[in-house]
Amino acid sequence: MFEEGYLQKMRDQFVRDTILTDEFMDFIQQNMLPMDTLMAYYRCAIMEVETKFKVLNEQFSLRYDRNPIESIKTRVKSTDGIMKKLKKKELPLSVESIEKNINDVAGIRVICSFPEDIYLLADCLLQQDDIRLIEKKDYIKKPKESGYRSLHLIVAVPIFLQNEKREMKVEVQLRTIAMDFWASLEHKVRYKKNIPESETEHLAKELQDCAEVSASLDERMQNIRNRLAEVSGEDVPKNTDMGTPLLRRLTRL
Ligand code: GTP
Ligand code: MG
Repeated sequence: MFEEGYLQKMRDQFVRDTILTDEFMDFIQQNMLPMDTLMAYYRCAIMEVETKFKVLNEQFSLRYDRNPIESIKTRVKSTDGIMKKLKKKELPLSVESIEKNINDVAGIRVICSFPEDIYLLADCLLQQDDIRLIEKKDYIKKPKESGYRSLHLIVAVPIFLQNEKREMKVEVQLRTIAMDFWASLEHKVRYKKNIPESETEHLAKELQDCAEVSASLDERMQNIRNRLAEVSGEDVPKNTDMGTPLLRRLTRL
């Protein structure tokens, strides 16, 4: 009647639900209002950071006639996801603990066409005087073993409420279209149930290989764009984070 995959999914869901239920329900009942408030603050923080990126995109569009940002995706982590993370890390289940220990409740993903735009945007964001960098992980310069590439920033941004100013943490992931394409496929493979053991290793290897091919494509397309800018005498933005201003690097090509 039902496929094995479906039954397995139902069983997993049941285990997850029942294991979390008591603690989860207690937590929700005791913390309903503070939790709703905290989540609203995270949504505000996302709005602040998203606007900053949109403003930068507008400015680059006016100044250099190009948009470094292809798209922006945002999300607030589900309460269920937050609880699971606290449990996994054996941290207290409280509203204070969420704010203190979970850095990715508010998430924003910025997708660019070219790798250099990632550093340019990160640099511009971090230069803003209301942004405080908490952590930076460069999985582009140093990809994960899986092949995963992206630039991750944990930043604190102020939100302005009726009578107070509050700093909230936001996780920013910057990646190219190719890196995003790869990450979403790898995510599907990672969370797919019932993959035979014999396949797992092969798929992981294939994905690592694809990540390399994809990174090399990103690099070649970046070079084409740079070359094009150079030969057409385009005004190009400078990026201080990469050490050498982009313009000087271009003229060295
Ligand atoms: P969590 O993974 O969030 O528990 O924290 P962490 O401190 O290990 O953060 P890290 O910066 O390594 O990764 C955070 C996020 O990046 C994840 O939640 C994913 O969205 C993404 N990510 C990291 N590694 C991979 C990967 O190998 N594959 C894919 N598809 N996404 C990844
Ligand atoms: Mg995460």
